[in-house]
Amino acid sequence: MVRINENYSKIRSSYLFTEIAHRVAARQAAAPDAKIIRLGIGDVTEPLAPAVIKAMHRAVDDLSSRETFHGYGPEQGYAFLREAAAKADFADRGVDVSADEIFISDGAKCDCGNIQELFSSDVKIAVGDPVYPVYVDTNVMAGRTGKNDSGRYEGLVYLECTAANSFVPGPEAAEGADVVYLCYPNNPTGAVATKEQLQKWVDWAREEKSLILFDAAYEAFIRTPGIPHSIYECDGARECAIEFRSFSKTAGFTGVRCGYTVVPKGLCAYAADGTRVEMRPLWTRRQTTKFNGASYITQRGAEAVYGEEGRAETRKTIDFYLENASIIKKAVSSCGYNVTGGVDSPYLWVDVKGPSWDFFDRLLDEANIVTTPGAGFGRSGEGYIRISAFNSRENVLEAVDRLGKIL
Ligand code: MLT
Repeated sequence: MVRINENYSKIRSSYLFTEIAHRVAARQAAAPDAKIIRLGIGDVTEPLAPAVIKAMHRAVDDLSSRETFHGYGPEQGYAFLREAAAKADFADRGVDVSADEIFISDGAKCDCGNIQELFSSDVKIAVGDPVYPVYVDTNVMAGRTGKNDSGRYEGLVYLECTAANSFVPGPEAAEGADVVYLCYPNNPTGAVATKEQLQKWVDWAREEKSLILFDAAYEAFIRTPGIPHSIYECDGARECAIEFRSFSKTAGFTGVRCGYTVVPKGLCAYAADGTRVEMRPLWTRRQTTKFNGASYITQRGAEAVYGEEGRAETRKTIDFYLENASIIKKAVSSCGYNVTGGVDSPYLWVDVKGPSWDFFDRLLDEANIVTTPGAGFGRSGEGYIRISAFNSRENVLEAVDRLGKIL
């Protein structure tokens, strides 16, 4: 008799976006002619940049002859991509991260989910509430929590992200936590953190010998000067922070799959006897054992994002999504709703003045618009919905027109 990992039984429901997909499929079945507009999951709609396409075509050609063929790639990713990322994402911004601290992967979601394997099973985890569900669910699966009876798991530290703190909690709420997940620009609220706010977290982590797992998947949407793009812009962050980056939203790679994780040299956690242990060799060991790298074609495509053409083209696409966000923000605000986010972020966080799943269902049934109910991101997300700005302009304009009619 094979016993299951009982921790899976603690997980309350299906993955949020799977539940939404079921409701959308039910709506479509009930109204087969309805044109459903999807502003739910943050999935990109615009094609890849021409520079990326060209680079991927060239990479395919490389694989067609023995001289330029590539089999297994280097463990951490190809040097051409790690070096391009180290230069453009860090050195050019005056931030100290070297190419050999960058680990290329098939996306930030996997890395955010896998990183917890490096920590002991009894570390205390802190997460925002509302939160991107991957941080929570992967720790539940790993047995770091108790049951979830009241919308929250026993054993986790929840950092309230509410209108009262402008959706940016400070470290005073994280007492007793060993590892804290932070995400800015935030998914789901769209809030951004200032350098002072992030510096407080870094100072706290160094003081407490804690670690910050910083998800910067949406950094490319930052347009406001002075807002940090990386946790390593803060003094001392190299000693206490791991950062995740993604090409999904930056360059439309949600289907292509590529991201990377920065584990600085010298970043340590502790063995049971109190000795300091470097995390970088541990992550190397984990990745080389369980992962064989993003494909050569993908990495060549990602490299092109950093070229002159690729940079200009991807920036234009992000500007396009930001303009979508601004159109939606204006329309929803003018219907009398408080909207956070949508600036420096593709997500809008709307106070719907009532239960979020009811509002979600209303928009789906009455306007054929898919959003994401805030309650799906945690108890403090109740009363909100998240609207994603990833869609065509035509659909966004039609969506705001429909919203204007029913709200
Ligand atoms: C979201 O909608 O929250 C994201 O698309 C999910 C993800 O990036 O995995």
